[in-house]
Amino acid sequence: MVIDTLRSVLQFRRFELDAARRRLQGVASVEDLRRIARRRLPGGVFDYIDGGAEDEVALDRNTRAFRELEFVPRVLRDMGSVDTTGTILGRQVPLPLILAPTGFTRVADPAGELAAARAADRAGLPYALSTMGTRSVEEVAAVSEGSKWFQVYVWRDRGLLAEMIQRAAAAGFEVLCITVDAAMLGRRERDVRRGFTLPPKLGLDTLMEAMIRPGWSLRFARSEPISFANVAGNTHIDGSTAVDLAAFMNSQFDPTLSWDDVEWMRSEWAGPVLIKGVQSVADAVIARDQGLNGVVLSNHGGRQLDSAPAVIDLVAPVASKVGGDLDIVCDGGIRRGGDIVKALSLGATSCMIGRAYLYGLAAAGEEGVDWVIEHLRTGMQRDMALVGASSVAELSPELVHRPRSGSGQT
Ligand SMILES: Cc1cc2nc3c(=O)[nH]c(=O)nc-3n(C[C@H](O)[C@H](O)[C@H](O)COP(=O)(O)O)c2cc1C
Repeated sequence: MVIDTLRSVLQFRRFELDAARRRLQGVASVEDLRRIARRRLPGGVFDYIDGGAEDEVALDRNTRAFRELEFVPRVLRDMGSVDTTGTILGRQVPLPLILAPTGFTRVADPAGELAAARAADRAGLPYALSTMGTRSVEEVAAVSEGSKWFQVYVWRDRGLLAEMIQRAAAAGFEVLCITVDAAMLGRRERDVRRGFTLPPKLGLDTLMEAMIRPGWSLRFARSEPISFANVAGNTHIDGSTAVDLAAFMNSQFDPTLSWDDVEWMRSEWAGPVLIKGVQSVADAVIARDQGLNGVVLSNHGGRQLDSAPAVIDLVAPVASKVGGDLDIVCDGGIRRGGDIVKALSLGATSCMIGRAYLYGLAAAGEEGVDWVIEHLRTGMQRDMALVGASSVAELSPELVHRPRSGSGQT
């Protein structure tokens, strides 16, 4: 009798042998992955990924502005099938999402950029490789047949830049994404306090950290040394010896970058060109007038100008001026599928995620990235059903409302 009762209430999950999958079993949100990432990574590495500029106002505002937006749900609209299919640069995708370029991705996990590119490919989404990537355009192309974007910072050495762009095109990258919000590197004070370098130094100073995080330290020590793979061999700039990121970027990248340089890069690249880091309607209009294919509305995830506008608040004003003329990508603060629904409702054509997939990568490797993409897809589908939109075409500004007390501009 007692045994029968016990049997009916006790249900053990099968023990999962794979450690990454075991960690994912208890995960319900991107925030859960962030907590696991914090436990697994050395403090300096976690802060490099998680942190923002100065007081982290923009970082906080990006996510808060999403949370403060309310839906105005419509009901009784037959949500028997809900389709998240979207369009990026004229091509259909299962959900309108791009994995953002992130420098030094291999500090999160040795699988780094290759894991992110493979996960994006599996999900039918574009992956953007950073100029500061720790895998080269050729290495990424070798593992992904999917849509690949190359993000450029503009090196002072234009010859180096032109060569890099040509290599990306030859490797099958389709889209050039020029980051324009980094005339100087933002002051990331968590990194300043720690004296953080890239790659992280594993010397006496970090020995304690290495002992506290033996898993990460072992994986890091066992994997190939990391460097800026797209300039590998160029020893003074390839990051093979530890560099202070701010000093490095400020010395290597060109602060004189202007619209003329964008024009020059367009002449070097046959495919679509977007600029990433647009934060005003005025610049979105110039981008449209220059004939660019898209703008990525972005404050670099709150890592550059701290008093930058929350990205989601830029979407409606930009869309009302240039919507329909070019792609409008919303990048910054996306942690849930509902955030994508809000951005698309306000006029974005697609969204980008940075930290969300990096937390997944740090918490559970490549499967963590898969988990995040699927979490955002199902979240998007569920919120579309709950607001009464069965397709992306049915998402419109009337579905979203910002309460008066909110922080936004709309
Ligand atoms: C660790 C890290 C590294 C980044 N490196 C780059 C980079 O090399 N190039 C770039 O254009 N943006 C870079 N970004 C910004 C992302 O592309 C993206 O704009 C940002 O992460 C979006 O905000 P989210 O993290 O809230 O999604 C980086 C972001 C993070 C978190």
